[in-house]
Amino acid sequence: MKTFQKPVLTENEAEKALDTAIAIVRQNLPMFTHRCQNHSSVNDVYPACENDQWTCGFWPGEVWLAYERTGEDAFRSTALTLVESFLARIENKVAVDHHDMGFLYSPSCVAAYKLTGSEAGRRAAILAARQLCTRFQEKGQFIQAWGAMGVADNYRYIIDCLLNVPLLYWASEETGEEGFADIAHRHVATCLAHSIRPDGSTYHTFFMDPVTGGPVRGATCQGYRDDSCWARGQAWGVYGTALSYRYAKKSEYLNAFRRVLGYYLERLPSDMVPYWDMTFGDENGAGEPRDSSSASIVACGLLEAAKYVPQQEAEQWRTLAGQMLKSIADGYAVQNGPEGVGLVRHGTYSKKSPYNTCTPEGVDECVSWGDYFYMEALTRYLKDWKLYW
Ligand code: GLY
Repeated sequence: MKTFQKPVLTENEAEKALDTAIAIVRQNLPMFTHRCQNHSSVNDVYPACENDQWTCGFWPGEVWLAYERTGEDAFRSTALTLVESFLARIENKVAVDHHDMGFLYSPSCVAAYKLTGSEAGRRAAILAARQLCTRFQEKGQFIQAWGAMGVADNYRYIIDCLLNVPLLYWASEETGEEGFADIAHRHVATCLAHSIRPDGSTYHTFFMDPVTGGPVRGATCQGYRDDSCWARGQAWGVYGTALSYRYAKKSEYLNAFRRVLGYYLERLPSDMVPYWDMTFGDENGAGEPRDSSSASIVACGLLEAAKYVPQQEAEQWRTLAGQMLKSIADGYAVQNGPEGVGLVRHGTYSKKSPYNTCTPEGVDECVSWGDYFYMEALTRYLKDWKLYW
């Protein structure tokens, strides 16, 4: 596996980086207590939005991480106010006809339940897990990502869903109902069978046949081309396989982690923060935006997977995470700014290419999940963190 001759973040630097992030979260509380944070910033400052985006769970996740470190009541009370809004959202089925229930409900409501025993958080998260199960397609054995169920041009899953299935593992443990975890395992098996190419790169989305249930083809939405490798999809692959290994302890999940990580490392530019698609590297990336959020997501995956392997490999993975975090903290993290400012610059939500199908949004901006995973990775780096996932 590729190694890098770069310094790692020291413990002292990690403490300072996390406290800098928490100071910005504290400053932004008034703006995002009764409204949510938009998926991406505009010139590094987030507009407020209603609780109707797939990304609304990340801001409460940041507030919970800030609460864990400081114990300050302002964080706890804001996060619990947001939990009420998440309960109303799932009870009233507001913008939940997609697979992103884990992204929404793990860092907001599972976190609330684990940290405070919030019954509203528990109820909301279990309802969200039930909603996620309604997206499962028996024919093809996958959780359908978007759109009306069963329609041929939406009969697909996407690699991002590896971060939604931990909500199902949690719901199984919490309720004793094995059906949740069963759907998670069946989806992950389908995903690992088709989404990872022989060289360890990944397809963003994968179509299945609604009649036979067989694999049809890989395609991109947010990556550069169908046959390229979208950086964040690869990062979801790294962290998602580590999380599924945590719950299932299936060796094939850890093997998938190694393959996906191996490709990711090979395609990193010298500062270890990827371009938005891994078709771009040091040799041809000039003028292309980065996606700093991918680096934080991968750091979380490395720190999770390092718990389950022999010492030498674990050390290697912790070193890689420390190097990535040093690069983000020194070169990408925001130090201060006006109310609403984000935590990490140079994320990319969706960049249009001549070949992809996305709506362009949040290019070279702070992105809500990039901020959250940066805080999660720093927290993981500093202590044995009890997961929200
Ligand atoms: N899950 C959508 C994204 O990563 O942009």
